[in-house]
Amino acid sequence: MDGVILVTGSTGFIGSRMVDALVAQGRRVRVLLRPESRAGSSSSQRAGVEVSRAAYGDAEALGRAVSGVAAIIHLAGVTKAVDEAGFAQGNVTPVENLLEAVKRHNPGLSRFLLVSSLAAIGPAASASPGVRESDKPHPVSAYGRSKLLGEEAARRHAGSVPLTIVRPPAVYGPGDRDILEVFAMMKKGYLLSAGSGKRQRFSMIHVDELIRGIVLALDSEKAAGEDYFITSPRGYAWDEVVEAARPVLGFQRLVRIDLPKPLVFGLGAVLGAVARLTGRPALINSDKANELVQDYWVCSPEKAERELGFRASVPLGEGVAETLRWYSREGWL
Ligand SMILES: NC(=O)c1ccc[n+]([C@@H]2O[C@H](COP(=O)([O-])OP(=O)(O)OC[C@H]3O[C@@H](n4cnc5c(N)ncnc54)[C@H](OP(=O)(O)O)[C@@H]3O)[C@@H](O)[C@H]2O)c1
Repeated sequence: MDGVILVTGSTGFIGSRMVDALVAQGRRVRVLLRPESRAGSSSSQRAGVEVSRAAYGDAEALGRAVSGVAAIIHLAGVTKAVDEAGFAQGNVTPVENLLEAVKRHNPGLSRFLLVSSLAAIGPAASASPGVRESDKPHPVSAYGRSKLLGEEAARRHAGSVPLTIVRPPAVYGPGDRDILEVFAMMKKGYLLSAGSGKRQRFSMIHVDELIRGIVLALDSEKAAGEDYFITSPRGYAWDEVVEAARPVLGFQRLVRIDLPKPLVFGLGAVLGAVARLTGRPALINSDKANELVQDYWVCSPEKAERELGFRASVPLGEGVAETLRWYSREGWL
């Protein structure tokens, strides 16, 4: 893909890594920064990266942001919010407004690549092969429903703009603060899981592998009008993540505690109520609890392999070790 690529959400975990990767490949990059964006983020200050400032509610500024670019990678979004309205504000409205701006100011855009989530489709019924792109969406959380609404909004508003949707499962790697919580528990010698931890399996993808998959989809003519899971070859068990972390974290014994589902929902209800009172998203609420207790957050890598030639190749042990060493260097763990 020649020409300038507009990246949204460039100050986030995946977005900042995405900008670095595109610049390293010699591609021209513009980032969209909101008035609320964290100032001084490394990606926005990178030499050679153009900065466009726009609120998603400001049609004129959005028009300037999308003008003249060849493609848009829309990574901006929210994974935590107090209620459905907060999720819609982060995951649906920006998609609609960006595409409306594209129609008016850049109708010849070569590709709009929307980063959605496995949560939009929902969990699998079994550990293998996992959900497929052709499965009927059945999100189990407000986050998942908002990502699905974002996909539907993209299809509705894209018009003649070629649209590609990429759905990652859990993404880990340098800069991630969510899975960091799991490693922090392990470092302290315990691991809490919700529901039936022994049975649970989840797809995971290293952030750099996800970026490779997104760029393959962006550059592929065939990917226009398509959707893909960019994911690990299979779902992993908690034990495998523990064994991947053990050599670096160095724990001898690890206490595994499977929190019974009613307890997880009880905690979720209480913390969710506090969040609504304070207006600050909780680590867990009833909605999040419903995500945590699912057995199989697994998606199939087959379509991306068949159509894009994408196969995740970083072994879990290697990816986790590199991530843990990064956390340690940065003083995060
Ligand atoms: N991390 C994962 O495991 C994972 C898994 C599946 C899918 N995803 C999807 O991947 C994308 C990036 O995730 P991430 O982990 O990099 O998230 P992140 O670190 O939270 O970054 C998201 C970025 O979105 C922008 N943003 C925040 N609030 C917003 C709002 N209310 N409206 C519009 N934009 C807002 C911010 O960037 P600016 O300030 O620069 O605008 C923020 O840095 C999201 O769409 C997420 O749903 C992530």
